[in-house]
Amino acid sequence: RRWHSAEAPFEHLNPVTEQDVQQFASILPPSSVLSTLPPSSTAASELDQYNNDWMGKYHGKSTTVLKPKTTQQVSDIVKLCWERRVGIVPQGGNTGLVGGSVPIHDEVVVNLSNMNKVRSFDPVSGILVADAGCILQSLTDYIAPHHHIMPLDLGAKGSCHIGGNVATNAGGLRLLRYGSLHGSVLGIEVVLPDGTILDQLTSLRKDNTGYDLKQLFIGAEGTLGIITGVSILTPPAPQASNNVILALPHFDNVLPLYKEVKRQLSEILSAFEFIDRTAYDLAVKHGQGRGLTEEEVDGAQCFVLVETSGGRRDHDEEKLNDLLESLLGADQPLITNGVLSQSPAQFSSLWSLREGVTEAVSKEGKAYKYDISVPLSTFKQVVDVTRDHLRSKGLLHDGAVKHVIGYGHVGDGNLHLNVIAEQYTDEIQDALEPFIYELVASHRGSISAEHGIGAMKTHALHFSKSDVSIALMKQIKQLFDPRGIMNPGKVIEL
Ligand code: FAD
Ligand code: MLT
Ligand code: ZN
Repeated sequence: RRWHSAEAPFEHLNPVTEQDVQQFASILPPSSVLSTLPPSSTAASELDQYNNDWMGKYHGKSTTVLKPKTTQQVSDIVKLCWERRVGIVPQGGNTGLVGGSVPIHDEVVVNLSNMNKVRSFDPVSGILVADAGCILQSLTDYIAPHHHIMPLDLGAKGSCHIGGNVATNAGGLRLLRYGSLHGSVLGIEVVLPDGTILDQLTSLRKDNTGYDLKQLFIGAEGTLGIITGVSILTPPAPQASNNVILALPHFDNVLPLYKEVKRQLSEILSAFEFIDRTAYDLAVKHGQGRGLTEEEVDGAQCFVLVETSGGRRDHDEEKLNDLLESLLGADQPLITNGVLSQSPAQFSSLWSLREGVTEAVSKEGKAYKYDISVPLSTFKQVVDVTRDHLRSKGLLHDGAVKHVIGYGHVGDGNLHLNVIAEQYTDEIQDALEPFIYELVASHRGSISAEHGIGAMKTHALHFSKSDVSIALMKQIKQLFDPRGIMNPGKVIEL
């Protein structure tokens, strides 16, 4: 299938042999070596969860999955692979959406889920140091009694690892308030492709001692090394959080609404998330959150979820109520309705309508996911143009594409354009690419706002990066991984 852009040259890599498995078994306990090769005897079906991605779109053929518990074990495994020129895929929670977390061929999967200990937490500074394999939600739960929260939140929080988040530079639902991981990650520990341990696990807020190497690994998607530990700054939990879902009669109102919401809510605005009508209907259809009544959504073309986080509940509620009143009372209202959460359960339920779109889409069909940065004013146009294009190719509805939807992070200029089909087919793929990438480039946008490049977009990098940038990226990859063993075929074609 051609949605692997990387029909990459793998000739330089060797397959795992029985001898390799024997060596792995001398480094790790038997339960941490899953292999269909002797002396291990794992059933091939047991490897399915490591070979196949969350969307069911990318399928690897690895014979061997390793689950180390310590940084030293990771280093020993990697050293062996380096010497033997065996490809490695670092894997966290395997929730990635661009095919980066599963093998393309038979690379060894190094899954970090056994590295799941919190190393330290300082409630005064809010600095958390944790193994890379800690699940995001567990970290949230760990620091909650200290009244701190993680600086990022995403729908995959129950499965994704902090190491995977850092490796993908995941954005998510809190970026508007807390910024990107390039700012909140203070240090990392990485095993380099030759097995060397790079210990940059500092907990310093300020450290201007030359090149900031850790930044290279944030968003490298496992192509430069395996992250084994992360030091991250966690903010204090807000005293009060509230949310409201706003129904809009027309997409054109989103921009002026954003301006007005920012103006009125100012410092307490913590999220401004967009879903178009079809995305909303799918979320409701697949049981994600409590839907609004028919009356409440009457005439709505799209929705915006606004969250506030602040220091005093009554103050924040007053501001939100004033906002709603002024929006609904305006001469030409930007919204047709607004539903304010009245309880913690309703707060979660409203969030589910937005956060649950990903899950709903996966229940509805097979998704072609385009995670793009384009000017906010073009969000609707990009979705409409894509839909029209598929219609002109005879692919819409009768022709296998069920829906074309848009949702995303308005405050970050990040649109998730999803094309939902009955099946993944070459015909749909060819209709979508390079069409969408050209469209994005025409707006001087980015073909990957937050999900990464993975196996999906290696061939398309030039739509968002100049030749000079790509040449430098190749040099960096060569410097760290001259044997090309670390997540081969992902991000950059050598
Ligand atoms: P994996 O999927 O296992 O891996 C992702 C990439 O990182 C791969 O290239 C892998 O090789 C590499 N990697 C993983 N762990 C390591 C490590 N320890 N060292 C080096 N490389 C490593 N993304 C967003 O940006 N924003 C969202 O809002 C968002 N929401 C999502 C909602 C859902 C329901 C799902 C399924 C996915 C979502 N994602 C989102 C995509 C995904 O990027 C994130 O889920 C997450 O950051 C990936 O973490 P993971 O542990 O699952 O990594
Ligand atoms: C989101 O914003 O919901 C995530 O990035 C996942 C997705 O794009 O579906
Ligand atoms: Zn997103």
